[in-house]
Amino acid sequence: MERKYKVRVCRGPSCGDERHSSSLAEEFRRLLAAGDLPDVEMQWQSCYGRCRRGPNVLVLEAREQAAPPKFVLATQPLTRGGKATMYNHVTIADVGEIVSEHLAAGRPVRRLMERPPRQSGSGDSKKDGEE
Ligand code: FES
Repeated sequence: MERKYKVRVCRGPSCGDERHSSSLAEEFRRLLAAGDLPDVEMQWQSCYGRCRRGPNVLVLEAREQAAPPKFVLATQPLTRGGKATMYNHVTIADVGEIVSEHLAAGRPVRRLMERPPRQSGSGDSKKDGEE
C-alpha cells in the first residue's frame, strides 16, 4: 500500500552538516510514532539546491488512486502526480506544527513555505541561484 505522505528531510552539506537536519528527522519520527500516523514515510534527500533556505523539508502527498482505466491510449503519460510542499528554515519547534497541521489534518503550514534565503555572510554555503 502506498503511503499518503512522504517527508523528505534534506541531509546535504548545508542542511545536514551545517544545520544538523538529522535532529529534524528524529523529531519527525518521534512525533509520527506518538501521533500514530502510519500513512507517513520518512525519507532522505541529498540536496534540493536551496541551501541558503535550509534546512529544507519536502512533504509529498500522493494523489488518490482512481481505478485504472480499462483502455489507455499508448500516448497517454502514466504519471502518478501529487502535491509537493517545500518547507524552509525548518527548526525543531516547527516540526510539531508540520506534523499536526499538514500530516495529521491535511493543512499545509503557509508561514513555513518559501521563506527568503539567508543573507550572505551568515556562514552559509552556496546555491539557491542568487549569488
Ligand atoms: S543541502 Fe539542503 S538544499 Fe542543499
